[in-house]
Amino acid sequence: MKNVAVLLGSLSENSINKTLAKTFEKLGEGRLRFDYLDIAGLPFYNNDLWDNPPAAVTDLKHRVETADAVLIVMPEFNRSFPAVIKNALDWASRPYGHNSWAGKPLAIAGASPGGIGTAAGQSQLRAVLPVLGFVVMGQPEVYFQFQPGLIDEHFEVTDDQSRAFLGGFVDSFVGWINRYGEPVTRAEAAE
Ligand code: FNR
Repeated sequence: MKNVAVLLGSLSENSINKTLAKTFEKLGEGRLRFDYLDIAGLPFYNNDLWDNPPAAVTDLKHRVETADAVLIVMPEFNRSFPAVIKNALDWASRPYGHNSWAGKPLAIAGASPGGIGTAAGQSQLRAVLPVLGFVVMGQPEVYFQFQPGLIDEHFEVTDDQSRAFLGGFVDSFVGWINRYGEPVTRAEAAE
């Protein structure tokens, strides 16, 4: 069983991205254990706080470091990725030389009611991931146009094609983790 730290980019109770993440969790049952990181409780990044780091920050770093992989499931906000994601990425990348993300296999997915299904937001996110040392899964891409009824209240996908597609993403992620979940030797992020 692989332990996956999940960054959910929506804080909304009725989030369609939360539904998508729970659907992945269900599709990965028996292979992946999801740990939803508490990123809403993080303060905005402030270098001065390292003198006495908040528990939310030390807890985040510990949970990331003990994870086998990271999954980001997020909405697109104004053609970019949500600030809560950037804030969490920044916190766990520090202090310099103690980047908790280093070497983690990572996959990204996102849902939107709109047709581009977070493609623009994910593209922006992909620009910052290499410097954090992630091993990013490039395929399959999940730009999920969320339509009412496509996922039911038990997180079952009601449409065969969508179920196969989302299940294939989970299968690929399991393979990615098995292939690249290596011990970390370098832990720098950007200088
Ligand atoms: C959005 N939404 C949105 N959708 C999209 O496809 N592209 C975009 O650039 C944006 N921009 C955007 C900005 C802001 C500030 C908000 C609040 C919303 C709509 C968004 O996809 C929709 O509200 C989703 O339901 C948000 O995901 P969760 O919170 O339901 O997971």
